[in-house]
Amino acid sequence: MRQRVILWTAVLAVMGWMSYGIWRGEAAAALERSRAGEVSAPEETVKEQKLIALTFDDGPHPVYTPMLLDGLKERNVKASFFLLGGNIEGNEEVVERMAEEGHLIGNHTYSHVQLTKISPEEAEREIAGTNEKILAASGVLPRYIRPPYGEWSEQLEAMTAMEPVFWNVDPQDWKILDRKAVADHIIKHGADGAVVLLHDSYETTVEAALEVIDTLEKQGYTFVTVDELLVD
Ligand code: NI
Repeated sequence: MRQRVILWTAVLAVMGWMSYGIWRGEAAAALERSRAGEVSAPEETVKEQKLIALTFDDGPHPVYTPMLLDGLKERNVKASFFLLGGNIEGNEEVVERMAEEGHLIGNHTYSHVQLTKISPEEAEREIAGTNEKILAASGVLPRYIRPPYGEWSEQLEAMTAMEPVFWNVDPQDWKILDRKAVADHIIKHGADGAVVLLHDSYETTVEAALEVIDTLEKQGYTFVTVDELLVD
């Protein structure tokens, strides 16, 4: 009996010493953090950064792309543009402006073809021809491609050095052509890491995109180019 009492006393003493040690460790760490100025906000209020990327396909458009660039500049927001090589001629200054203002310029083929339905040689021409036009207009060689219809293959992956960029929010702006409906769809489905598919060939899309930026920025979102979402 006496031995048991001694044993229990010893166990309790060890436990007490251990919890004092843990408490002391935590207290010291907390003190350390507060000295470093790290405990200025409780954990729940530390805001995680929410990132979202607006992407615009099928441009450049001579009227609506500059209109969009004006709105993005006013808001200091960067977007990603996947250009059609066939739309660049005559709009080189718009492409140059995209690069100057910090937007990401990608490839969307020359003539909006489904790359998986043509020969590898034709696909290569579609991609290279567009890269050449973009390089000549902006001085930047694209690294990313948005394959039309989202159709890509392992063969294309192996053949080109380009990285495909898909999307996870599609408001079908080109079809519904309604500022409010497009904006509402994006605001409803917007989430951290969202890549939004849009087309800068319509005034309704430009207006919707700018409205989305104003609304989601108030909700704590930061708009970034797609490469910033792909890097992990
Ligand atoms: Ni397209």
